[in-house]
Amino acid sequence: MFFLEFLTFAKSIALTAGKIVKEGYYSELTVEKKAEMDYVTQIDKASEKTIKDAVAKEFPTHGFLGEESGSDKPNAEYVWVVDPLDGTTNFVYKIPYFSVSIALKHKSKDKDEVIIGVVYNPLTDEMFYAEKGKGAFLNGKKLEIKQKPKPLEKWFLAYCYRDISKHEEAERIVFDSFFYQTARVLKLGSAALELCYAASNRADAYIGLELKEWDYAAGELIVNEAGGIAIHDKLINKGVTIAGCKEAVSLIRSKILSHNHYGDKNEVG
Ligand code: 2AM
Ligand code: CA
Repeated sequence: MFFLEFLTFAKSIALTAGKIVKEGYYSELTVEKKAEMDYVTQIDKASEKTIKDAVAKEFPTHGFLGEESGSDKPNAEYVWVVDPLDGTTNFVYKIPYFSVSIALKHKSKDKDEVIIGVVYNPLTDEMFYAEKGKGAFLNGKKLEIKQKPKPLEKWFLAYCYRDISKHEEAERIVFDSFFYQTARVLKLGSAALELCYAASNRADAYIGLELKEWDYAAGELIVNEAGGIAIHDKLINKGVTIAGCKEAVSLIRSKILSHNHYGDKNEVG
């Protein structure tokens, strides 16, 4: 009951933030560069402020971690983990593929766990959401990841990374591992949404490099609740997130490791 209140709130604020993002997409943007190909606009900031203010009003004891404003009350029992606009590069280039991602993490003595995840695509009006232990849904329809992967040559593999300049070698390994056997490697650019595509069988699996918590917190719960798994591993010298059904995830992990060019030491700490 308690969790349901959080989910209802998260869905409602995702809709509000999504409206800001959608209107922003059709308006003039003020673009600042955080790093090469890493942008922030007034819309990222407005969306985050709206979500953060709503959390502060509704749940004043809760903490907040947002891509644009950083961390507030990180030791609170409940912490909201928010990417107010996931896919800013697409957004700036007028490529209609981005989302709002909102997760709620519960902290207890022995573990931190995400209990609510909402990813909203405002242009398609698609709301992916999950509550821990209660399944994952897309606009009310239950999501179930197919447990038997297709042959590799029929896969659509969704893939994205943060900050290309640091990942040439890791990226080459990922491509080498799948390029000749996979029907498509789709570099889409919103990790949260790509995880949801893996959860809804639109993509056969997802690989992300060097993701931040706000990129994956909501999408990962949605994958788990759809019957899949998501792992974070230090492989090929990078933080690699792999999501999909269990068999696909373990296949991807072993293929990447077999193409590893970092010598015998496969996992670099
Ligand atoms: P962002 O838009 O919130 O910054 C993983 O791919 C994450 O990196 C994406 O979810 C996106 O998050 C960001 N990203 C995607 N393409 C990128 C690019 N070309 N440069 C920098 N960040 C990118
Ligand atoms: Ca963002």
